[in-house]
Amino acid sequence: ALKLAIVGGASTYTPELIDGFARLRDTLPIGELVLIDPAADRLELIAALARRIFARQGHHATVTTTTDTTTGVHDADAVLLQLRVGGQAARDKDETWPLECGCVGQETTGAGGLAKALRTVPVVLDIAERVRAANPHAWIVDFTNPVGIVTRALQSAGHKAVGLCNVAIGFQRKFATHLGVDPELVRLDHVGLNHLTWERGVTLLDTPDATTGTEVLPRLLTEHGQAIAADLHLPLPVIQRLGVVPSYYLRYFYQHDQVVKELQDKGSRAAEVAAIEKQLLELYADPALDTKPELLGQRGGAFYSEAAVQLIASLLGTDHRTTVQVVNTRNDGILPFLPDDAVIEVPATVDATGVRPLPQRPLEPLYAGLIASVTAYEHLALDAALHGGRDRVFDALLAHPLIGQIDLADHLTDRLLAHNRHHLNWA
Ligand code: G6P
Ligand code: MN
Repeated sequence: ALKLAIVGGASTYTPELIDGFARLRDTLPIGELVLIDPAADRLELIAALARRIFARQGHHATVTTTTDTTTGVHDADAVLLQLRVGGQAARDKDETWPLECGCVGQETTGAGGLAKALRTVPVVLDIAERVRAANPHAWIVDFTNPVGIVTRALQSAGHKAVGLCNVAIGFQRKFATHLGVDPELVRLDHVGLNHLTWERGVTLLDTPDATTGTEVLPRLLTEHGQAIAADLHLPLPVIQRLGVVPSYYLRYFYQHDQVVKELQDKGSRAAEVAAIEKQLLELYADPALDTKPELLGQRGGAFYSEAAVQLIASLLGTDHRTTVQVVNTRNDGILPFLPDDAVIEVPATVDATGVRPLPQRPLEPLYAGLIASVTAYEHLALDAALHGGRDRVFDALLAHPLIGQIDLADHLTDRLLAHNRHHLNWA
């Protein structure tokens, strides 16, 4: 029977995964699920709810818990990483101090995202070593942000890892709803880096395994452009003219100064999430609760269980199919203007033999330019995370297209280090 381990298993998000594992158990027949987390009390609370959700849906997988990663990953076939070093408190800082310098405060974009990378990469690499020592064949599926940098760290260290985000599956579901079709029939022409992507096309397939279909993005933009633009908070005329749909993370670039003003006027997303989490934990404590509560829908992780189940099922071969899925993986020439070891987010064929990104048509300069500069930033960010030092932090910030000025990079570096000293053993 399959054994899966979740690092960060006491996350309030876990019931989303559990619900997906239960509903999709024919695709991914899990025998044992291990929840690993340092927060022992919360771990038992989440595990008890997970058992109730499985029982209610007639799923017979066992749910076990441990605070010890080495014990937890033993014999696991796949390990999911969904941890958050420093919790929402650290995120709150990432979203706050960059604003003091007139820069976007966001958990994955800009200076806050760099702080998160610096805290996270060493922790994830340590976990990955334990996974590899326990079972060199185990797949590591990383949801831990910043997914691009974390996946690059894992793959560069030779780990059997792939990065996953729900932005693509979110577009797939949204477009399928607009088209009134099954999401499996919608294939995205999705390109970029994690949280820096564009949909250049949308193919409507006749069957889920078809290799060709009809291009429907122009039609989607004509018939549903208003709704698509409103969702992204981006101006419709620009999207119409480009004929390409940017992810909502592009707003931090295309409307940076406006977003900064908005963020300066309201509380952080971390504070919002902390309040939701408090309520969620109260709900989870109710022994009568045996479903994923609606309140969880207020978090950003919609559909991430579906994405994870399909990815793991294909990687482990339990669905006996080669599927096309959007993942984060090594570039290896797919975007020829980037280094091979850059991690890109594109559709890939996935099966038990591995992950192979699909070829991409040449990328227009409007997208290639930003992708190239953020890739350079990610290279320097990983360097800073691995080797430490103020200069490396400064260089990564100077390279970032939203920062790029010496004085600004200096101020941000000081703040980043001041707020994160206790998480960085070199600072
Ligand atoms: C989306 C992104 C994730 C991110 C999440 C934040 O799902 O793809 O990478 O972690 O939003 O959601 P939250 O509810 O924590 O703000
Ligand atoms: Mn994401």
